[in-house]
Amino acid sequence: MNNFEFLSPTKIVFGKGTENRVGQEIKKCQAEKVLLHYGGGSIKRFGLYDRVVASLKESDIDFIELGGVKPNPRVSLVREGIKLCRERGVDFILAVGGGSVIDSAKAIGIGVPYDGDVWDFYTGKAEPQETIPVGVVLTIPAAGSEASPGSVLTNEDGWYKRAVNAEIMRPRFAILNPELTFTLPPYQTVCGASDIMAHVMERYFTPTRHVDFTDRLCESTLKTVIKNVPVVLDQPDNYDARAEIMWAGTIAHNDLLSTGRVGDWASHDIEHEISGIYDVAHGAGLAVVFPAWMKYVYRENRDKFVQFAVRVWNVDMDFEDPERTALAGIDQLKRFYKNVGLPTSLKDLGISDDRLEEMADKCTAGDTKTVGNFKRLGKQDVLNILKMAL
Ligand code: NZQ
Ligand code: ZN
Repeated sequence: MNNFEFLSPTKIVFGKGTENRVGQEIKKCQAEKVLLHYGGGSIKRFGLYDRVVASLKESDIDFIELGGVKPNPRVSLVREGIKLCRERGVDFILAVGGGSVIDSAKAIGIGVPYDGDVWDFYTGKAEPQETIPVGVVLTIPAAGSEASPGSVLTNEDGWYKRAVNAEIMRPRFAILNPELTFTLPPYQTVCGASDIMAHVMERYFTPTRHVDFTDRLCESTLKTVIKNVPVVLDQPDNYDARAEIMWAGTIAHNDLLSTGRVGDWASHDIEHEISGIYDVAHGAGLAVVFPAWMKYVYRENRDKFVQFAVRVWNVDMDFEDPERTALAGIDQLKRFYKNVGLPTSLKDLGISDDRLEEMADKCTAGDTKTVGNFKRLGKQDVLNILKMAL
Protein backbone atom coordinates (compact mmCIF):
# COMPACT_ATOMS: atom_id res chain seq x y z
CA MET A 1 0.00 0.00 0.00
CA ASN A 2 1.24 3.50 -0.85
CA ASN A 3 1.38 6.46 1.53
CA PHE A 4 -1.66 8.68 1.20
CA GLU A 5 -3.60 11.68 2.44
CA PHE A 6 -7.37 11.51 2.39
CA LEU A 7 -9.74 14.42 2.83
CA SER A 8 -13.13 14.35 1.17
CA PRO A 9 -14.80 17.34 2.82
CA THR A 10 -18.11 17.46 0.94
CA LYS A 11 -20.98 17.31 3.42
CA ILE A 12 -23.48 14.67 2.31
CA VAL A 13 -27.13 15.25 3.15
CA PHE A 14 -28.85 11.99 2.20
CA GLY A 15 -32.48 10.92 2.13
CA LYS A 16 -36.11 11.62 1.43
CA GLY A 17 -37.16 15.24 1.06
CA THR A 18 -33.64 16.58 1.70
CA GLU A 19 -33.79 18.98 -1.27
CA ASN A 20 -36.16 21.09 0.82
CA ARG A 21 -33.20 21.89 3.08
CA VAL A 22 -31.06 23.38 0.34
CA GLY A 23 -31.75 26.99 1.42
CA GLN A 24 -30.59 26.25 4.97
CA GLU A 25 -27.43 24.55 3.72
CA ILE A 26 -26.54 27.55 1.56
CA LYS A 27 -27.25 29.90 4.45
CA LYS A 28 -24.66 28.02 6.51
CA CYS A 29 -22.13 28.80 3.78
CA GLN A 30 -22.81 32.54 4.32
CA ALA A 31 -23.65 33.16 0.67
CA GLU A 32 -25.04 36.56 -0.33
CA LYS A 33 -25.88 35.96 -3.97
CA VAL A 34 -26.44 32.56 -5.56
CA LEU A 35 -26.36 31.32 -9.14
CA LEU A 36 -28.90 28.51 -9.59
CA HIS A 37 -27.45 26.39 -12.40
CA TYR A 38 -29.32 23.56 -14.14
CA GLY A 39 -29.68 21.54 -17.33
CA GLY A 40 -32.16 21.04 -20.12
CA GLY A 41 -35.32 21.18 -18.11
CA SER A 42 -35.86 17.85 -16.33
CA ILE A 43 -35.82 19.66 -12.97
CA LYS A 44 -38.72 21.85 -14.11
CA ARG A 45 -40.65 18.95 -15.64
CA PHE A 46 -40.56 16.94 -12.42
CA GLY A 47 -41.21 19.73 -9.91
CA LEU A 48 -37.75 19.87 -8.33
CA TYR A 49 -37.12 23.42 -9.55
CA ASP A 50 -40.19 24.68 -7.64
CA ARG A 51 -39.11 22.97 -4.43
CA VAL A 52 -35.57 24.34 -4.66
CA VAL A 53 -36.81 27.87 -5.35
CA ALA A 54 -39.26 27.61 -2.43
CA SER A 55 -36.43 26.54 -0.13
CA LEU A 56 -34.19 29.40 -1.29
CA LYS A 57 -36.99 31.92 -0.73
CA GLU A 58 -37.78 30.49 2.68
CA SER A 59 -34.16 31.11 3.71
CA ASP A 60 -34.20 34.62 2.17
CA ILE A 61 -31.54 33.77 -0.36
CA ASP A 62 -31.07 36.17 -3.22
CA PHE A 63 -30.47 34.25 -6.46
CA ILE A 64 -30.24 34.46 -10.23
CA GLU A 65 -30.32 31.51 -12.60
CA LEU A 66 -28.68 30.01 -15.64
CA GLY A 67 -30.13 26.85 -17.19
CA GLY A 68 -29.37 25.05 -20.44
CA VAL A 69 -26.36 22.93 -19.49
CA LYS A 70 -26.09 20.15 -22.07
CA PRO A 71 -24.88 16.62 -21.33
CA ASN A 72 -21.12 16.74 -22.08
CA PRO A 73 -21.16 20.38 -20.91
CA ARG A 74 -19.72 23.07 -23.14
CA VAL A 75 -17.15 25.74 -22.37
CA SER A 76 -19.25 28.37 -24.19
CA LEU A 77 -22.02 28.27 -21.54
CA VAL A 78 -19.37 28.31 -18.81
CA ARG A 79 -17.94 31.52 -20.25
CA GLU A 80 -21.44 32.99 -20.26
CA GLY A 81 -21.87 31.92 -16.62
CA ILE A 82 -18.56 33.51 -15.60
CA LYS A 83 -19.58 36.83 -17.17
CA LEU A 84 -22.97 36.71 -15.47
CA CYS A 85 -21.47 35.91 -12.05
CA ARG A 86 -18.98 38.76 -12.32
CA GLU A 87 -21.64 41.28 -13.39
CA ARG A 88 -24.07 40.26 -10.66
CA GLY A 89 -21.63 39.65 -7.80
CA VAL A 90 -22.43 35.96 -7.35
CA ASP A 91 -20.60 34.33 -4.44
CA PHE A 92 -22.11 30.80 -4.44
CA ILE A 93 -23.18 28.40 -7.20
CA LEU A 94 -25.93 25.84 -6.69
CA ALA A 95 -25.85 23.02 -9.23
CA VAL A 96 -29.14 21.14 -9.52
CA GLY A 97 -28.71 18.16 -11.83
CA GLY A 98 -26.17 15.55 -12.85
CA GLY A 99 -22.47 15.48 -13.57
CA SER A 100 -22.80 17.86 -16.50
CA VAL A 101 -24.46 20.60 -14.46
CA ILE A 102 -22.07 20.11 -11.53
CA ASP A 103 -19.01 20.19 -13.80
CA SER A 104 -20.27 23.35 -15.48
CA ALA A 105 -20.84 24.93 -12.05
CA LYS A 106 -17.34 23.98 -10.90
CA ALA A 107 -15.89 25.48 -14.08
CA ILE A 108 -17.74 28.76 -13.52
CA GLY A 109 -16.54 28.66 -9.92
CA ILE A 110 -12.86 28.56 -10.85
CA GLY A 111 -13.34 30.83 -13.86
CA VAL A 112 -14.73 33.85 -12.02
CA PRO A 113 -11.63 34.74 -9.95
CA TYR A 114 -9.23 33.89 -12.83
CA ASP A 115 -7.95 36.60 -15.18
CA GLY A 116 -7.36 34.36 -18.20
CA ASP A 117 -9.69 32.06 -20.13
CA VAL A 118 -11.22 29.19 -18.13
CA TRP A 119 -10.16 26.65 -20.77
CA ASP A 120 -6.55 27.22 -19.58
CA PHE A 121 -7.36 24.98 -16.60
CA TYR A 122 -8.43 22.16 -18.91
CA THR A 123 -5.30 22.31 -21.07
CA GLY A 124 -3.00 22.40 -18.05
CA LYS A 125 -1.85 25.96 -18.85
CA ALA A 126 -3.09 27.11 -15.40
CA GLU A 127 -4.01 25.48 -12.10
CA PRO A 128 -7.07 26.57 -10.13
CA GLN A 129 -6.00 28.60 -7.08
CA GLU A 130 -9.39 29.77 -5.84
CA THR A 131 -13.05 29.16 -6.52
CA ILE A 132 -16.52 30.39 -5.75
CA PRO A 133 -18.01 27.63 -3.55
CA VAL A 134 -20.38 25.13 -5.16
CA GLY A 135 -23.28 23.20 -3.62
CA VAL A 136 -25.20 20.36 -5.28
CA VAL A 137 -28.66 18.84 -5.46
CA LEU A 138 -27.96 15.60 -7.33
CA THR A 139 -30.51 14.10 -9.73
CA ILE A 140 -28.57 11.20 -11.26
CA PRO A 141 -26.07 8.84 -9.68
CA ALA A 142 -23.31 8.55 -12.25
CA ALA A 143 -20.34 10.91 -12.54
CA GLY A 144 -19.63 11.21 -8.83
CA SER A 145 -18.89 14.89 -9.39
CA GLU A 146 -20.99 15.77 -6.33
CA ALA A 147 -18.01 14.91 -4.11
CA SER A 148 -15.10 14.75 -6.55
CA PRO A 149 -12.39 17.35 -7.17
CA GLY A 150 -12.87 17.11 -10.95
CA SER A 151 -14.71 18.85 -13.74
CA VAL A 152 -14.92 17.70 -17.36
CA LEU A 153 -15.77 20.14 -20.15
CA THR A 154 -16.05 20.00 -23.91
CA ASN A 155 -14.61 22.75 -26.09
CA GLU A 156 -16.68 23.10 -29.27
CA ASP A 157 -13.57 24.46 -30.96
CA GLY A 158 -12.06 21.11 -32.02
CA TRP A 159 -14.42 19.01 -29.84
CA TYR A 160 -11.84 18.43 -27.17
CA LYS A 161 -13.21 16.94 -23.94
CA ARG A 162 -10.79 17.59 -21.10
CA ALA A 163 -10.70 17.39 -17.30
CA VAL A 164 -9.25 19.46 -14.49
CA ASN A 165 -8.79 18.29 -10.90
CA ALA A 166 -8.13 20.43 -7.85
CA GLU A 167 -9.02 19.79 -4.22
CA ILE A 168 -10.60 23.25 -3.89
CA MET A 169 -13.20 22.18 -6.44
CA ARG A 170 -14.94 19.62 -4.23
CA PRO A 171 -18.47 20.85 -3.53
CA ARG A 172 -19.28 22.22 -0.07
CA PHE A 173 -22.34 20.02 0.24
CA ALA A 174 -24.25 17.48 -1.83
CA ILE A 175 -27.92 16.77 -1.28
CA LEU A 176 -28.74 13.20 -2.31
CA ASN A 177 -32.40 12.25 -2.37
CA PRO A 178 -32.88 8.89 -4.13
CA GLU A 179 -36.53 9.81 -4.83
CA LEU A 180 -35.26 12.39 -7.33
CA THR A 181 -33.88 9.55 -9.45
CA PHE A 182 -37.24 7.75 -9.90
CA THR A 183 -37.81 9.77 -13.09
CA LEU A 184 -34.60 8.69 -14.78
CA PRO A 185 -35.24 6.93 -18.09
CA PRO A 186 -33.81 3.36 -18.17
CA TYR A 187 -31.02 4.36 -20.53
CA GLN A 188 -29.81 7.18 -18.26
CA THR A 189 -30.06 4.85 -15.27
CA VAL A 190 -27.79 2.25 -16.85
CA CYS A 191 -25.38 4.82 -18.30
CA GLY A 192 -25.02 6.15 -14.77
CA ALA A 193 -24.44 2.65 -13.40
CA SER A 194 -21.80 2.01 -16.04
CA ASP A 195 -19.95 5.19 -15.02
CA ILE A 196 -20.11 4.23 -11.34
CA MET A 197 -18.74 0.76 -12.11
CA ALA A 198 -16.02 2.28 -14.27
CA HIS A 199 -14.92 4.61 -11.46
CA VAL A 200 -14.49 1.58 -9.23
CA MET A 201 -12.74 -0.54 -11.86
CA GLU A 202 -10.33 2.27 -12.79
CA ARG A 203 -9.16 2.08 -9.18
CA TYR A 204 -9.40 -1.70 -8.83
CA PHE A 205 -7.06 -2.46 -11.71
CA THR A 206 -4.00 -0.91 -10.17
CA PRO A 207 -0.28 -1.60 -10.41
CA THR A 208 -0.12 -1.16 -6.58
CA ARG A 209 0.20 -4.40 -4.58
CA HIS A 210 -1.11 -5.23 -1.09
CA VAL A 211 -4.33 -3.24 -1.21
CA ASP A 212 -6.68 -5.90 0.07
CA PHE A 213 -8.89 -3.58 2.13
CA THR A 214 -9.64 -1.19 -0.74
CA ASP A 215 -9.96 -4.15 -3.15
CA ARG A 216 -12.73 -5.46 -0.90
CA LEU A 217 -14.41 -2.04 -0.78
CA CYS A 218 -14.28 -1.90 -4.57
CA GLU A 219 -15.75 -5.39 -4.90
CA SER A 220 -18.62 -4.58 -2.51
CA THR A 221 -19.40 -1.37 -4.37
CA LEU A 222 -19.49 -3.21 -7.70
CA LYS A 223 -21.65 -6.01 -6.32
CA THR A 224 -24.11 -3.49 -4.86
CA VAL A 225 -24.55 -1.80 -8.23
CA ILE A 226 -24.78 -5.10 -10.11
CA LYS A 227 -27.47 -6.33 -7.72
CA ASN A 228 -29.60 -3.18 -7.68
CA VAL A 229 -29.58 -2.04 -11.31
CA PRO A 230 -31.94 -4.81 -12.52
CA VAL A 231 -34.21 -3.99 -9.56
CA VAL A 232 -34.60 -0.32 -10.51
CA LEU A 233 -35.07 -1.18 -14.19
CA ASP A 234 -37.99 -3.33 -13.11
CA GLN A 235 -39.23 -0.96 -10.38
CA PRO A 236 -38.07 2.61 -11.13
CA ASP A 237 -39.54 3.90 -7.87
CA ASN A 238 -37.94 1.33 -5.58
CA TYR A 239 -36.47 3.73 -3.00
CA ASP A 240 -34.11 1.29 -1.34
CA ALA A 241 -32.55 0.09 -4.58
CA ARG A 242 -32.21 3.66 -5.87
CA ALA A 243 -30.64 4.62 -2.53
CA GLU A 244 -28.03 1.84 -2.75
CA ILE A 245 -27.00 2.95 -6.23
CA MET A 246 -26.92 6.62 -5.30
CA TRP A 247 -24.64 6.19 -2.31
CA ALA A 248 -22.44 3.73 -4.22
CA GLY A 249 -22.08 6.38 -6.94
CA THR A 250 -20.69 8.96 -4.53
CA ILE A 251 -18.35 6.53 -2.77
CA ALA A 252 -17.12 5.25 -6.14
CA HIS A 253 -15.60 8.62 -6.96
CA ASN A 254 -14.90 10.58 -3.75
CA ASP A 255 -11.42 8.99 -3.63
CA LEU A 256 -11.97 6.71 -0.63
CA LEU A 257 -11.43 3.77 -2.96
CA SER A 258 -8.17 5.30 -4.24
CA THR A 259 -6.52 5.45 -0.84
CA GLY A 260 -3.09 3.83 -0.86
CA ARG A 261 -3.23 2.88 -4.51
CA VAL A 262 -2.71 4.23 -8.02
CA GLY A 263 -5.64 4.15 -10.43
CA ASP A 264 -5.51 3.35 -14.14
CA TRP A 265 -7.87 5.80 -15.97
CA ALA A 266 -6.96 4.81 -19.54
CA SER A 267 -10.56 3.78 -20.28
CA HIS A 268 -11.76 7.20 -19.15
CA ASP A 269 -9.17 8.99 -21.26
CA ILE A 270 -10.16 6.93 -24.30
CA GLU A 271 -13.88 7.38 -23.66
CA HIS A 272 -13.59 11.16 -23.35
CA GLU A 273 -12.41 11.22 -26.98
CA ILE A 274 -15.53 9.28 -27.99
CA SER A 275 -18.07 11.44 -26.14
CA GLY A 276 -16.11 14.58 -27.08
CA ILE A 277 -16.52 13.90 -30.79
CA TYR A 278 -19.76 11.92 -30.97
CA ASP A 279 -21.64 13.46 -28.02
CA VAL A 280 -22.73 10.06 -26.65
CA ALA A 281 -23.42 9.48 -22.94
CA HIS A 282 -20.14 9.01 -21.05
CA GLY A 283 -21.40 5.81 -19.35
CA ALA A 284 -22.40 4.32 -22.71
CA GLY A 285 -18.93 5.00 -24.10
CA LEU A 286 -17.36 3.38 -21.04
CA ALA A 287 -19.45 0.21 -21.45
CA VAL A 288 -17.92 -0.09 -24.91
CA VAL A 289 -14.32 0.76 -24.01
CA PHE A 290 -13.86 -1.04 -20.69
CA PRO A 291 -14.23 -4.69 -21.82
CA ALA A 292 -11.98 -3.99 -24.83
CA TRP A 293 -9.36 -2.40 -22.56
CA MET A 294 -9.58 -5.40 -20.23
CA LYS A 295 -8.99 -7.91 -23.01
CA TYR A 296 -6.02 -5.83 -24.19
CA VAL A 297 -4.26 -5.51 -20.83
CA TYR A 298 -5.25 -8.48 -18.64
CA ARG A 299 -1.99 -10.34 -19.13
CA GLU A 300 -0.15 -7.55 -17.24
CA ASN A 301 -1.57 -9.04 -14.03
CA ARG A 302 -3.78 -11.97 -14.89
CA ASP A 303 -4.37 -12.85 -11.24
CA LYS A 304 -6.10 -9.53 -10.63
CA PHE A 305 -8.57 -10.40 -13.36
CA VAL A 306 -9.01 -13.87 -11.85
CA GLN A 307 -9.81 -12.19 -8.53
CA PHE A 308 -12.30 -9.87 -10.28
CA ALA A 309 -14.02 -12.86 -11.92
CA VAL A 310 -14.23 -14.95 -8.76
CA ARG A 311 -15.09 -12.29 -6.20
CA VAL A 312 -17.28 -9.92 -8.23
CA TRP A 313 -18.95 -12.29 -10.72
CA ASN A 314 -18.86 -15.55 -8.72
CA VAL A 315 -17.06 -17.33 -11.56
CA ASP A 316 -15.82 -20.81 -10.62
CA MET A 317 -12.04 -20.82 -10.34
CA ASP A 318 -10.47 -22.97 -13.05
CA PHE A 319 -7.30 -24.11 -11.28
CA GLU A 320 -5.97 -25.85 -14.37
CA ASP A 321 -6.50 -22.87 -16.60
CA PRO A 322 -6.73 -19.58 -14.63
CA GLU A 323 -6.69 -17.64 -17.89
CA ARG A 324 -10.14 -19.00 -18.66
CA THR A 325 -11.35 -17.70 -15.32
CA ALA A 326 -9.90 -14.25 -16.03
CA LEU A 327 -11.59 -14.11 -19.44
CA ALA A 328 -14.88 -15.39 -18.02
CA GLY A 329 -15.00 -12.37 -15.67
CA ILE A 330 -14.61 -9.98 -18.60
CA ASP A 331 -17.36 -11.84 -20.48
CA GLN A 332 -19.65 -11.60 -17.47
CA LEU A 333 -19.16 -7.85 -17.32
CA LYS A 334 -20.00 -7.53 -21.01
CA ARG A 335 -23.03 -9.77 -20.62
CA PHE A 336 -24.25 -7.64 -17.73
CA TYR A 337 -23.95 -4.49 -19.83
CA LYS A 338 -25.88 -6.14 -22.66
CA ASN A 339 -28.61 -7.45 -20.37
CA VAL A 340 -29.31 -4.05 -18.85
CA GLY A 341 -29.48 -2.36 -22.26
CA LEU A 342 -26.04 -0.77 -22.60
CA PRO A 343 -24.11 -0.71 -25.87
CA THR A 344 -21.09 -3.01 -25.99
CA SER A 345 -19.52 -1.97 -29.30
CA LEU A 346 -18.79 1.25 -31.14
CA LYS A 347 -21.19 -0.01 -33.80
CA ASP A 348 -23.95 -0.10 -31.15
CA LEU A 349 -23.21 3.61 -30.62
CA GLY A 350 -23.47 4.24 -34.37
CA ILE A 351 -19.72 4.87 -34.66
CA SER A 352 -17.69 3.48 -37.60
CA ASP A 353 -13.94 3.18 -38.01
CA ASP A 354 -13.28 6.46 -39.81
CA ARG A 355 -12.10 8.59 -36.85
CA LEU A 356 -10.37 5.98 -34.67
CA GLU A 357 -6.92 7.23 -35.63
CA GLU A 358 -7.90 10.81 -34.79
CA MET A 359 -9.20 9.71 -31.36
CA ALA A 360 -6.03 7.73 -30.59
CA ASP A 361 -3.96 10.71 -31.66
CA LYS A 362 -5.88 13.21 -29.50
CA CYS A 363 -5.89 10.84 -26.52
CA THR A 364 -2.10 10.57 -26.50
CA ALA A 365 -1.40 14.16 -27.65
CA GLY A 366 0.02 12.94 -30.95
CA ASP A 367 1.76 9.97 -29.29
CA THR A 368 3.77 12.26 -27.01
CA LYS A 369 2.27 10.87 -23.80
CA THR A 370 0.93 7.56 -22.52
CA VAL A 371 -2.40 6.90 -20.80
CA GLY A 372 -3.10 4.38 -18.03
CA ASN A 373 -0.99 2.89 -15.25
CA PHE A 374 -1.99 -0.79 -15.12
CA LYS A 375 -0.35 -0.85 -18.53
CA ARG A 376 0.96 2.34 -20.08
CA LEU A 377 -0.61 2.80 -23.48
CA GLY A 378 0.74 4.73 -26.45
CA LYS A 379 -1.16 5.81 -29.54
CA GLN A 380 -0.94 2.41 -31.26
CA ASP A 381 -2.27 0.66 -28.12
CA VAL A 382 -5.22 3.06 -27.92
CA LEU A 383 -5.92 2.49 -31.60
CA ASN A 384 -5.80 -1.28 -31.07
CA ILE A 385 -8.29 -1.01 -28.19
CA LEU A 386 -10.64 1.17 -30.25
CA LYS A 387 -10.47 -1.40 -33.07
CA MET A 388 -11.27 -4.17 -30.61
CA ALA A 389 -14.27 -2.11 -29.46
CA LEU A 390 -15.64 -1.73 -33.00
O1 NZQ B 1 -30.46 18.23 -18.73
P1 NZQ B 1 -31.64 17.62 -18.07
O2 NZQ B 1 -32.93 18.02 -18.67
O3 NZQ B 1 -31.62 17.82 -16.58
O4 NZQ B 1 -31.57 16.02 -18.35
C1 NZQ B 1 -30.48 15.21 -17.93
C2 NZQ B 1 -29.55 14.85 -19.08
O5 NZQ B 1 -30.24 14.84 -20.30
C3 NZQ B 1 -31.02 13.85 -17.53
N1 NZQ B 1 -31.42 13.76 -16.12
C4 NZQ B 1 -30.65 14.02 -15.03
N2 NZQ B 1 -31.33 13.76 -13.91
C5 NZQ B 1 -32.56 13.34 -14.30
C6 NZQ B 1 -32.63 13.35 -15.70
N3 NZQ B 1 -33.73 12.96 -16.37
C7 NZQ B 1 -34.79 12.56 -15.64
N4 NZQ B 1 -34.79 12.50 -14.31
C8 NZQ B 1 -33.70 12.87 -13.59
N5 NZQ B 1 -33.70 12.79 -12.26
O6 NZQ B 1 -29.95 12.96 -17.71
C9 NZQ B 1 -29.14 13.41 -18.80
C10 NZQ B 1 -27.69 13.23 -18.46
O7 NZQ B 1 -27.29 14.12 -17.45
P2 NZQ B 1 -25.72 14.34 -17.17
O8 NZQ B 1 -25.59 15.36 -16.11
O9 NZQ B 1 -25.02 14.58 -18.45
O10 NZQ B 1 -25.29 12.90 -16.64
P3 NZQ B 1 -24.06 12.42 -15.80
O11 NZQ B 1 -24.29 12.64 -14.35
O12 NZQ B 1 -23.77 11.06 -16.27
O13 NZQ B 1 -22.83 13.38 -16.19
C11 NZQ B 1 -22.04 13.12 -17.31
C12 NZQ B 1 -20.89 14.11 -17.41
O14 NZQ B 1 -20.03 14.00 -16.26
C13 NZQ B 1 -18.67 13.82 -16.72
C14 NZQ B 1 -18.87 13.06 -18.00
O15 NZQ B 1 -17.74 13.06 -18.82
C15 NZQ B 1 -20.05 13.79 -18.63
O16 NZQ B 1 -19.62 14.98 -19.27
N6 NZQ B 1 -17.86 13.20 -15.67
C16 NZQ B 1 -17.52 13.97 -14.61
C17 NZQ B 1 -16.69 13.51 -13.61
C18 NZQ B 1 -16.30 14.36 -12.47
N7 NZQ B 1 -16.54 15.65 -12.54
O17 NZQ B 1 -15.74 13.90 -11.46
C19 NZQ B 1 -16.14 12.15 -13.64
C20 NZQ B 1 -16.75 11.26 -14.64
O18 NZQ B 1 -15.83 10.26 -14.99
C21 NZQ B 1 -17.24 11.91 -15.88
O19 NZQ B 1 -16.21 12.08 -16.83
ZN1 ZN C 1 -16.65 8.50 -15.43
